[in-house]
Amino acid sequence: MQKASVGAGGAGSWSGAVVDPHNARMNNENPSSIPPVLTIDGPSGSGKGTVSRMVAQRLGWHYLDSGAMYRAVGVAAGWANLDLADPAALVRCTFDTQIGFVEDTPELRVLVNGVDATDELRLETTGALASAIAAIPEVRAALKERQRAFRELPGLVADGRDMGTVIFPDASYKVFLTASAEERAQRRHKQLKDKGVSVNFDDLLREIMARDARDAQRTVAPLKPADDAVLIDTTGIGIDDVVARVMDLLPVPAA
Ligand code: C5P
Repeated sequence: MQKASVGAGGAGSWSGAVVDPHNARMNNENPSSIPPVLTIDGPSGSGKGTVSRMVAQRLGWHYLDSGAMYRAVGVAAGWANLDLADPAALVRCTFDTQIGFVEDTPELRVLVNGVDATDELRLETTGALASAIAAIPEVRAALKERQRAFRELPGLVADGRDMGTVIFPDASYKVFLTASAEERAQRRHKQLKDKGVSVNFDDLLREIMARDARDAQRTVAPLKPADDAVLIDTTGIGIDDVVARVMDLLPVPAA
C-alpha cells in the first residue's frame, strides 16, 4: 500500500499503478517540467470523485481530493469541539491538522492527525461542516499551497469546487460536472443505502440543495465553472460513459 501524507505545508500524492499511453503523449506535449493538470470541479454528487480517481488511475497520474481536505479540517474541528462562530480558531485548526491520504482501492482512505477518519469524513454532517468552514477565506488560503503541492510529474487530476478557477487556473484540461439535484440526491441515497445507512430522501435533497447554494453564493472561490472548462451534464449517464467523455478531451495519441 502506498501512503502519502500532507502535514502542515507538506506535499502529498496518490498514484495509481496503471500506466496508460496517454502519459508519454502528455509529457511530450509538455516539454517543460511543469506537471500537467486536469481539474474536475462540480457540486456534491456530480460524480467527480469517482470519475477523477478512475481517470487518474488510467493516466497513472496523482490524484487530489480537495473536498477531503476541507472535510478533514471539519472532523478535526469537531474533535476539538471548536465553535463554528470562531473563525480564528478554525484557521488555527486548519494549520495544525495533519491530513494523510492512503491508497485503498476502491475507496481513498483519509487520515486526520494520523487517525483513519474516512467513515466520519463521508458523513453528510461532515460535508455540511466542511462547507461552512470552506467559506472562511483564511481557511482557503491556508490550504491553497498544500493543494498546489500535489502537482507532481507525471501529472495531476484534481477534484473540488475551485480547482480550475483558483488553485490551478493554468491547468491544461478543465472539466465541470453537473447533474440535477434530484439525481445527485438519488445517487447519494443509494450509496448510503448500500452502506446500510437509512436516510430520508427529501432531507438529503434539501441538504444537497442547501450545500450547493452555500458553495455557489460564498464570496471567496464560489462553485462555478472556469471560463475555459468543458461542461458535462452527467444526469442519466453512467460513470463509465462520463470517464470516457473526460478521456476524450485529452489528446489522441499520434498514429
Ligand atoms: O467535494 P466534497 O463534498 O467532499 O466537499 C465538501 C465541501 O468542501 C464542499 O461542500 C465545499 O464547501 C468544500 N470544498 C470547497 N472547495 C473545494 C472542495 C470542497 O470549498 N475545492
